[in-house]
Amino acid sequence: MTTSATFHPLARLLHWTMALLILAMLFIGVGMVGTVSPKHSWLLAIHRPLGLAILLLAVMRLTIRLRRRPPALPGDMPRWQCYLAHASHWLLYGLMLAMPLIGWAMQSAGGYPIMLGDAWRVPAILPENAALFAWLREAHRYLAYLFLLTILGHVGAALYHALIRRDGVFQSMALGVRDRGRVEEDTDLVEEAEATTSPPRPE
Ligand code: HEM
Repeated sequence: MTTSATFHPLARLLHWTMALLILAMLFIGVGMVGTVSPKHSWLLAIHRPLGLAILLLAVMRLTIRLRRRPPALPGDMPRWQCYLAHASHWLLYGLMLAMPLIGWAMQSAGGYPIMLGDAWRVPAILPENAALFAWLREAHRYLAYLFLLTILGHVGAALYHALIRRDGVFQSMALGVRDRGRVEEDTDLVEEAEATTSPPRPE
């Protein structure tokens, strides 16, 4: 895996695009279940294809993430904060994949066709099953709450870096620049750095 001092520009573009799309999806979802007016089907017609687009973008993003390690966190960050940051990032990746997949599976189990335009019908990924539909419907709801809470925590952490610590972490995603000389106490990284920078030991 490649290690870099900054985020890949495509990773930054995907981060901000997906942030907007996911927030929109959460609001559209809540709006949808909160109305029985004709707006319901209009919102649903946006929600389903946008959800599938998020799934595609999430796969692209995860591929970049697995091929290229993001910039290290500052070395003076408490270890528990580093663990929490990593855990919450992986949880976000998991939810970016799970939410659309569960939405898609729910619609398949409910026997509701997902149309892209007038002509193209997205294939079902599960057989019709009312009990499974009900279960997935609940899972979609509770994971949406978890998604919102995790995003709020993520935004809180970003603001903490930007306004209180001022350590360049926020800028690395917002502007693609980074303060120099910050290395997280990540054993993998340290070992990797030592392997590539240490001069050969004298015999
Ligand atoms: C990142 C992707 C997604 C997010 C963040 C998201 C979010 C939400 C939210 C917040 C709700 C309301 C939950 C509630 O309070 O009960 C909801 C409902 C729903 N979502 Fe999603 N969703 C996503 C993807 C999908 C996909 C891909 C589909 C289908 C292909 C889908 C289909 C539905 C349906 C059918 C409902 C229920 C509508 C109703 O009962 O009126 N969602 N979604």
